[in-house]
Amino acid sequence: MNQDQNAAPSAVLRDEHQVILRVLSVLKRLVDRTEKGDGFEIESLRKCVEFFRLFADACHHAKEEDLLFPVLEARGIPKEGGPIGVMLYEHGIARELTKQMGETLETVAGGDESVTTQFCATANQYVDLLMAHIHKEDNILFTMGDRVMRPEDQTSLCEQFCEVGCRSFGGKKREELAELANELESDWPVA
Ligand SMILES: [Fe+2]
Ligand SMILES: [Fe+2]
Repeated sequence: MNQDQNAAPSAVLRDEHQVILRVLSVLKRLVDRTEKGDGFEIESLRKCVEFFRLFADACHHAKEEDLLFPVLEARGIPKEGGPIGVMLYEHGIARELTKQMGETLETVAGGDESVTTQFCATANQYVDLLMAHIHKEDNILFTMGDRVMRPEDQTSLCEQFCEVGCRSFGGKKREELAELANELESDWPVA
């Protein structure tokens, strides 16, 4: 996915949400297979976790935390006891769940399959958390943000987002990570 240099910052983040939702849906399908006794697809699960660690967290959540939220706060949207604080708290939980999923997968790779149930529980928690989180950002916080941001905020965030978009995350470009989403979706299409 190429980032439109003129797109509003909230539109860029909303587009990234759509990519994240597609991989959440793949993760859910893989977990459902395991829970039905149809095997544990460790390589695809590793790709999902890599995507969440690098695209959802290192790229997307970092844009929100380091760039968007400080601007929204400066324009009067409260952090403590307000929507920004809630979003930051949820990013922290998501980060911890991603770490746990990664560790559990390595335990399975080491030959201990007793933790697959634990993996599924953590993954289900992650899917539920992130879907609700994205819904809140799309429908509440970003809408509020677009109302309070000034045109110069939009312009400077756009430039900063483009700069982040050119970085690499764990040695991978944002486009390569988005491609990982396409790969996972074509390997595990909706039944
Ligand atoms: Fe977020
Ligand atoms: Fe987000």
